[in-house]
Amino acid sequence: MPEFATLTVDGKTIQLPIVRGTAGEAGLDITKLRDQTGYLAYDPAFGNTASCTSRITYIDGDKGILRYRGIPIEQFESHPNFVEVAYLLIFGRLPSVDELARFSARLTANAPLHEGMKHHFEGFPVNAPPMAIMSAMINAQSCFDPEFLHLGDDDEKFTEAAARLISKVRTIAAYSYRRARGMPFVYPDPRLRYCANLLHMIFSMPYDQYIIDPDIEDALNLIFILHADHEQNCSTSTVRMVGSAKANLFASCAAGVSALWGPLHGGANVEVLEMLDAIHKGGLSPEQVLAKAKDKSDPFKLFGFGHRVYKNYDPRAKMLQKVCERVFAHMNRQDPLLDIARKLEELALKDPYFVERKLYPNVDFYSGIIFRAIGIPTDMFTVMFAIGRLPGWIAQWKEQHDLVGGRIARPRQVYAGTALTDFVPMDKRPK
Ligand code: ACO
Repeated sequence: MPEFATLTVDGKTIQLPIVRGTAGEAGLDITKLRDQTGYLAYDPAFGNTASCTSRITYIDGDKGILRYRGIPIEQFESHPNFVEVAYLLIFGRLPSVDELARFSARLTANAPLHEGMKHHFEGFPVNAPPMAIMSAMINAQSCFDPEFLHLGDDDEKFTEAAARLISKVRTIAAYSYRRARGMPFVYPDPRLRYCANLLHMIFSMPYDQYIIDPDIEDALNLIFILHADHEQNCSTSTVRMVGSAKANLFASCAAGVSALWGPLHGGANVEVLEMLDAIHKGGLSPEQVLAKAKDKSDPFKLFGFGHRVYKNYDPRAKMLQKVCERVFAHMNRQDPLLDIARKLEELALKDPYFVERKLYPNVDFYSGIIFRAIGIPTDMFTVMFAIGRLPGWIAQWKEQHDLVGGRIARPRQVYAGTALTDFVPMDKRPK
């Protein structure tokens, strides 16, 4: 039974169809608003706009709920397998044993980079930002895979393109790490699983194989799972926006990497570490950092805190905090930055500014400290986030790609510039 809300504007009453989701969310369909009333919907930064209906990820920000294809995120904790979750997100259901084995085999087969791709790394300066390298190399990969530029309805081709991207991005990440340090590239080892192979390509030396610690491998699987999708955030909306123009999967995901790089988004994990480091080096006390974050005349934010959607604890942050404690206990490590993070969290959670605004730690607050403990350098944190987020981007791109009658995304604007003026020839303009 269709439902409607009524809206009266300028004395005219219209009916707006109500769109209901499967978990209680509802939206007003305003697609005909302009035709019927002459008005646009005005929602800068899309804070209250559903840009699509989606079956992939559900978030209830007030209750701190996150589910992938209906499965609560907490249920992935005990046997974390990132490849399984990637399959779930992309294909809509958990894989059977054989399906997972076949998908894993595709990832293994796709791990090496074409020799031509490897030469591209030499063109980057050694201190190039790894996120710039990653975005560029994902686009470069499309030059080596022209058969995947038009996927049409070919499911087999899509599966291969998805596996290729998920696998190659890991090799690209490891090579950008090694390029930045002037170290030789280490080839992927087909005997290793996804996360173990990444650690091997990053840390092994030609005559000194990195020893995989299964607990660290599990931790990395869980970290990637916690980053794997988060519905219509900035980078995912970018991927869908680019994809809506029928741009290919590689170009769309490369755009997602660029969006993720921003310090208000995935780049926040780098900012968190730099903030904690500055406190550690005595630049600022935790109290001064909080005061700076609350000062409205200062653009500084408490990085790793706050979220557009969560007005409760980010469930990913809660789980990462546990991973963090486990990794440190397992490695028998101390890190003064972890103590500072705990102190900042404690202070912020009882500070009226943060309490009133419902600002809690987000996924970026603890992830960097864990990466650091594993030995990943700060400039690689957002790259690690991108590896984790890739299956989500692919799933969202595919959902957008398969839309029947899907249109190019094209927001409107309320023009606020000079309404009309005349061109002035150069000889009549002031010197
Ligand atoms: N430090 C200080 N104040 C903050 C913070 C923060 N981290 N986050 C929000 N606020 C303030 C805002 O200034 C605003 O104050 P006001 O009401 O006095 O104007 C109020 O809290 C509400 O802000 P929101 O509207 O909830 O924030 P918005 O949705 O615009 O931004 C964002 C969300 C970008 C995540 C923001 O909280 C932020 O900048 N956080 C720090 C950066 C960060 O950690 N980003 C990672 C997010 S998770 C991810 O992308 C993977």
